[in-house]
Amino acid sequence: MDPTAFVAELETFKAAQLAPLVGAGASSAGEARGADVPSLLKVALVNEINVSELAAAWIPTTREVDVKLAFARQVGDEASHFRLVADRLAALGLDVSAFEAPAESPLFAYMKALPTTVERVAAGLFTLESIAYGVNEAFMSYCARAGDDETVRIYREYIQPDERAHQELGQALLAKYATTPGAQAAARAVVTQVIAMATAGRAKAAASLGTACLPGC
Ligand SMILES: [Fe+2]
Ligand SMILES: [Fe+2]
Repeated sequence: MDPTAFVAELETFKAAQLAPLVGAGASSAGEARGADVPSLLKVALVNEINVSELAAAWIPTTREVDVKLAFARQVGDEASHFRLVADRLAALGLDVSAFEAPAESPLFAYMKALPTTVERVAAGLFTLESIAYGVNEAFMSYCARAGDDETVRIYREYIQPDERAHQELGQALLAKYATTPGAQAAARAVVTQVIAMATAGRAKAAASLGTACLPGC
């Protein structure tokens, strides 16, 4: 299939698969059964550092320079999101100096092991960043209802524009590199797998935190 048409079709496929995941946050947005904004910001902290590390891990073994640079940009952006979230937690009175990243999740282990450039772009920039953008919107609604307008502002002004840019970079790079039937099939399989694993991981976290409005990365 023509690569541009393929990416447009994959975008539609991804949006349909993402709807329940993003909708879970939106539909439970009014519940607020006990999770507080700082607890959810700690989830964001973990996600941001995990994605920064994942993109960094891919750089040395990615041959295409424009993809290398896209990952490098993402490393910096996600590190900056970590700092923004950490500063917000500090302003809310939480000490984040002792932050320790938890053990690697099955999703990140799966993504880190992806061998090809097309699979990495499909998993990270194209899919994970779409998940992040969607779930962050539900998280921002949650914060707004909780009266935390400053957290909403930080996401609106700094974090979400980057997550959207990462996602668009993913679309452009897939259109450039997913040019063969084999690469396109691999990309589609990765999109399906990442969404399935993210859905399972987020459901587990939502059950323990009492809300599905968890931020992404
Ligand atoms: Fe991101
Ligand atoms: Fe981020």
